[in-house]
Amino acid sequence: MTNISSLCLFFFTLPTILNPICALKSCEFPAIFNFGDSNSDTGGFVASFPPLNPPYGETYFQMPVGRFSDGRLIIDFVAKSLNLSFLSAYLNSLGTNFTVGANFATASSTITLPARIIPANNGFSPFYFLVQYNQFVQLKDRSQLIRKQGGVFAQLMPKEEYFQKALYTFDIGQNDLGAGFFGDMSVEEVNASVPNIVNTFSTNVKSIYNLGARSFWIHNTGPIGCLAYVLANFPSAEKDSVGCAKSYNEVAQYFNYELKETVLQLRKAFPSAAFTYVDVYSVKYSLFSEPKKHGFELPLVACCGYGGLYNYSSSAGCGATITVNGTQITVGSCDDPSVRVVWDGIHYTEAANKFIFEQISTGAFSDPPIPLKMACHRTMG
Ligand SMILES: *[C@@H]1O[C@H](CO)[C@@H](O)[C@H](O)[C@H]1NC(C)=O
Ligand SMILES: *[C@@H]1O[C@H](CO)[C@@H](O)[C@H](O)[C@H]1NC(C)=O
Ligand SMILES: *[C@@H]1O[C@H](CO)[C@@H](O)[C@H](O)[C@H]1NC(C)=O
Ligand SMILES: *[C@@H]1O[C@H](CO)[C@@H](O)[C@H](O)[C@H]1NC(C)=O
Ligand SMILES: *[C@@H]1O[C@H](CO)[C@@H](O)[C@H](O)[C@H]1NC(C)=O
Repeated sequence: MTNISSLCLFFFTLPTILNPICALKSCEFPAIFNFGDSNSDTGGFVASFPPLNPPYGETYFQMPVGRFSDGRLIIDFVAKSLNLSFLSAYLNSLGTNFTVGANFATASSTITLPARIIPANNGFSPFYFLVQYNQFVQLKDRSQLIRKQGGVFAQLMPKEEYFQKALYTFDIGQNDLGAGFFGDMSVEEVNASVPNIVNTFSTNVKSIYNLGARSFWIHNTGPIGCLAYVLANFPSAEKDSVGCAKSYNEVAQYFNYELKETVLQLRKAFPSAAFTYVDVYSVKYSLFSEPKKHGFELPLVACCGYGGLYNYSSSAGCGATITVNGTQITVGSCDDPSVRVVWDGIHYTEAANKFIFEQISTGAFSDPPIPLKMACHRTMG
């Protein structure tokens, strides 16, 4: 009861949100199951592929911990706000604890089957969405058998009821667009492939629903055309007023349009589940269009990178040791990552991730406009 009354107090102070929200109870999610790419990878990729080097992780963890940032990711702030500990990566077999959920995301994962996988040149993660789904099936089935062994095993696996009560979070799609842009496809061809990508997303989400999931929190894809890896690799791309590559962002917008339509269809098809579409794109774009307003600077320039207009080069990534004029140097961090948007040319800083979390968790960028803590509900009333 205290939960409900404090919520009402909180919402009465916001003039735009009226009574009905007071009818909503906080969901008390006991666990999170996350699917995605490097935007939400908490150690899956590095459990299978070469580790990240310092200065990854320097701001919060003081060491690289498998997150593609200087610190925490949006998913970390999500977990914290739901009073849950950091999510263990499903692929990490060392010291993991899945009682409050699991993270299936790995860096460079795609929704659709990648044409080439790492370590091939231009390769993507073998752990694409369907594989992440299969891993989830494994966890769901086997966790209960393992719990029955008792002792420490019972303290490492989620309770059976958590699978239905958990929040299911998704942030995937950026690499499907990237695979096209960096493969041999024109921008128009990548754009034309969007409906197929989104269909595949939908198929996997339905499968997760069929296993009992009921609360879905779905991030759209960010403005890929504002990221140094696109700007530096496609220097002739036409820029918008803030310097982002216009047509690349338009493909992301089309992906988001199709994704939103798909989420609407899922909501119609499954009346017993809550599907929340979260417009991460708009929040991320505001960091590029109005950085000063939000306390940031140099949004197009990577904090940890090397070379060119955007401090980014694919051959000299963050943490790499390179030779410049016969001297070895390590690609390190900028002076103050806390005022920077882009960390390594592809991923955001902890400061940006925290800002994005604070914006999206209120529900102001969601459809329906439901706050994170209430994302088990379908409507405001
Ligand atoms: C998290 O814990 C704090 C302090 O105990 C409490 O005020 C808050 O309502 C909890 N949040 C959720 C989502 O349960
Ligand atoms: C796993 O995490 C849960 C929740 O944070 C905790 O209660 C439990 O003791 C942990 N298990 C072990 C073996 O430490
Ligand atoms: C992408 O395709 C959609 C639907 O055909 C179209 O409306 C949009 O203009 C296209 N965008 C680009 C950048 O090609
Ligand atoms: C490398 O040496 C050249 C020639 O002395 C100089 O012009 C250039 O600025 C040097 N580059 C760096 C990064 O120090
Ligand atoms: C570019 O990256 C280097 C590390 O290689 C860093 O020292 C420098 O501060 C960065 N430049 C900017 C403008 O952030």
